[in-house]
Amino acid sequence: MKVLVTGGAGYIGSHTCKLLANLGHTVITYDNLSTGHRQLVKWGDFIYGDIRDEARLRYAVHKYQPDGLIHFASFISVGESCSDPGSYYENNILGSLRIMQVLRDEGVRPLVVSGSAAVYGLPDMVPVAETAALNPINPYGRTKLVMEWMLEDFAQAHKLPWLALRYFNAAGADPSAETGEWHEPETHLIPNVLTAILKGQKLKVFGTDYPTQDGTCIRDYIHVNDLAWAHVLGLSYLLENKPSMSINLGTGSGVSVKEIIRAVEELTDKKVPFLVMPRRPGDPASLVADPTKAHKILNWTPEFLNIKDIIATALNWLSLHQENLLHI
Ligand code: UFG
Repeated sequence: MKVLVTGGAGYIGSHTCKLLANLGHTVITYDNLSTGHRQLVKWGDFIYGDIRDEARLRYAVHKYQPDGLIHFASFISVGESCSDPGSYYENNILGSLRIMQVLRDEGVRPLVVSGSAAVYGLPDMVPVAETAALNPINPYGRTKLVMEWMLEDFAQAHKLPWLALRYFNAAGADPSAETGEWHEPETHLIPNVLTAILKGQKLKVFGTDYPTQDGTCIRDYIHVNDLAWAHVLGLSYLLENKPSMSINLGTGSGVSVKEIIRAVEELTDKKVPFLVMPRRPGDPASLVADPTKAHKILNWTPEFLNIKDIIATALNWLSLHQENLLHI
């Protein structure tokens, strides 16, 4: 396959580019480097471009004539989406619309997009199936839901084939550490726990009074290479002319913040220094995927099922790249 990857210089995007290239596919990264890193574009050609720039996108699609697109280029921080919703609506909604319009005009081809568990908001039932109510509680989640609606409408009107892969908590890094998680600033739990150990800084634990067994939030951490694999399967699925839909990606088991801390302590044989803080706005107590549909439709099963194995890959990446990453 020849695949155009928007956001290929980012976290999940770069892992997917590596996997596609290793499988013998041709990959082209399209990224404006606003949150991605040129150093992570190691597989295939690079086009510097913004997804809102219709002419540049059109040029990329016209030049490479890809068999399909994978669209990762989103803003992803819930907190930032509350303080600056305009940027989220512009990048995530307008940018996604431009991609769909270019595909409509240049010849429709399959589009796999980064969805999010944030479309569910505060779910009534855990594990969460795709049939759960869609009630996003922050601008980030709303942009992801609107993107899915736009896909449905473009599929109806222009026969655009699509899959929205609703990730739960992406975690870990490529075991070879050729790429990994690199956000500036970093807001995610696992890299923050590891940085607390590596730099001796105190981790902030947001809330210990949730209605969970140990009082901290429970999430479904899914290894980034398992996510990458689902995108490759998803694109192949669409190229077989199968139906468009939204699919959860998670392991189906939940791990609490305290359990992550304990796992890091066991792996490193060091105590994680932490401070208990008030709850972070918009955090659901428990968010765990029902991944049945992904197994059934995509024949996808995650390889990393043990949280310690996932954390070990993140630790390897951070330890090897401390010099570059720890100034962030
Ligand atoms: N947490 C801390 N301290 C930190 C960072 C996180 O206690 O320094 C806690 C959070 O409060 C939360 C849990 O760890 O309870 C996980 O937080 P993350 O920020 O790692 O992940 P989220 O579940 O908030 O976010 C993920 C994705 C988002 C997506 C969201 C859907 O990263 O893009 O799931 O709910 F929107």
